Amino acid sequence: MAMMSLSPFTLLSKASVFLHRNRNTTLSTPFSTSAAGSKAKQTLQLVSALLLGGVQIARDDVVRDDPTNNVPDNIFSKLGMQLHRRNQHPLGILKNAIYEYFDNNYSNKFDKFDDLSPLVSVKQNFDDVLVPADHVSRSYNDTYYVDSQTVLRCHTSAHQAELLSMGYTHFLVTGDVYRRDSIDSTHFPVFHQMEGFRVFCPDDWEASGLDATSYAATDLKKCLEGLTRHLFGAVEMRWIDTYFPFTNPSFELEIYFQGKWLEVLGCGVTEQEILRRSGKQNNVAWAFGLGLERLAMVLFDIPDIRLFWSIDDRFTSQFAKGQLGVKFKPYSKYPPCFKDMSFWINESFTENNLCEIVRAVAGDLVEEVRLIDSFTNKKGMTSHCYRIQYRSMERSLTDEEVNELQLNVREEVQSKLKVVLR
Ligand code: PHE
Repeated sequence: MAMMSLSPFTLLSKASVFLHRNRNTTLSTPFSTSAAGSKAKQTLQLVSALLLGGVQIARDDVVRDDPTNNVPDNIFSKLGMQLHRRNQHPLGILKNAIYEYFDNNYSNKFDKFDDLSPLVSVKQNFDDVLVPADHVSRSYNDTYYVDSQTVLRCHTSAHQAELLSMGYTHFLVTGDVYRRDSIDSTHFPVFHQMEGFRVFCPDDWEASGLDATSYAATDLKKCLEGLTRHLFGAVEMRWIDTYFPFTNPSFELEIYFQGKWLEVLGCGVTEQEILRRSGKQNNVAWAFGLGLERLAMVLFDIPDIRLFWSIDDRFTSQFAKGQLGVKFKPYSKYPPCFKDMSFWINESFTENNLCEIVRAVAGDLVEEVRLIDSFTNKKGMTSHCYRIQYRSMERSLTDEEVNELQLNVREEVQSKLKVVLR
C-alpha cells in the first residue's frame, strides 16, 4: 500500500498525503494505460464527451497519448457519474444528511456547491492552498495530470481559494476526487469528499475573550462534534493533532466504532496567507474535508468500496432518499480468485503504477493487489511478488476469464513498467 496516498476516505491519516511535509520522492514517469484491455476501449466508444459543471469535455481533452498526461480511460469513464448527486444513492443520502445538519444549525447560511468541474488547474489544486512545490501529492505517481498545468482535483480544497475570492464566507463543496493509489476493499482511484469552510469577522471573536485562532478552533470542533452526533448518534470521539499545508493548527477527528478508532475527517484553522490573498486579512476561518465513502461504508455497512459504483439493482434498490443508515444486506459473495506474479523491479517501479495497469486490464473485477514477498539478491536486484485478488460483485468469474485477465496483466506490466517477469 502506498504510504503517501490518502485513503479514499480522506484526508485521513494513512491517509493524508498532506500530513507529510516535503517527503522525498522520485517523480515516476507518467504512462498511459489507454491501450490496455478491450473493455476500456468499449467504454470509450460509448462515452466520448461529458458535461462537467456545465462545461462540455471531450474524451480527447482528458485522455491523451502525451507524456504530461496519465489519465487512463477507466478514469475518464467515471468523470461524469456524480454519484453524490443521486438522492437514492448512499453518497447522495449522506450528503443530504450533512446538508440538513448545516441548514438546521446555521439557518441556511452555508452555500452549497456539488457541480464544480473536477478538472482544475495545478494552481487551484496545490498552489492556492499552499501545498509546497516539492510535496509528494504533486507527483505523477499520486495525482492524475491532464497536462502539466491541469489535474483531476485530488481534494475538494481545490475550490477554497476561488470561492473565497468570489466573496463566499460559508460554504460546502461536494465532489468526486481522484488519486492514484493501491488497490483493496477500501481504496478506489475515484472517491467523494465534502469540504466545509467558514469565515469569521472580528466582532465574532472579540466578544468571546478568546484570540481569533482559538475562537475558530473551538467553533470548528463544536460544529464537527455536532455533525458526528447527527450522523452516528452518541459515539465516543477524540481529536488528534496533525498537519495540512492549508490549516494551522490542524486536527483529525476519530470516532470509536466497532472496537476501533476510525478517522472521519481532517480540518483546521485556515492559514492566514490563504485569507490574505483573497483580501480577507482581518478575518479568521476554519475548514474541514471529509471522505463520504468512508462514512457511508460505516453508516450503511457497505463492505467494499466498488459497490458504490454498482448498477446492480440488488445494490441500488436497498437505498432510498432520506434513509440514512439502512444496513446493506450482502446478496451473496462470489468466490475470489488469486493469481500471483513475481518480477524484478527497476528504479522507477511504484505500486501505484502497477495498480493502474491492473485496473486498466481488469477494471472493477480486481479487489486487491497485495505485496506478499520481497527480497534483494546478492547482485542488488529486488524481486517483488504480488498477489492479485479477482472477484466480481455480481457473478462468479470463470477460470478462463481470470486466466486471460492475468495473462494480459503480465504482458502490460512487462511492457509498460519494463520489469523482468520471473
Ligand atoms: N484536503 C484535505 C485532504 O484531502 C482535507 C482537509 C480539508 C483538511 C480542509 C483540512 C482542511 O486530505
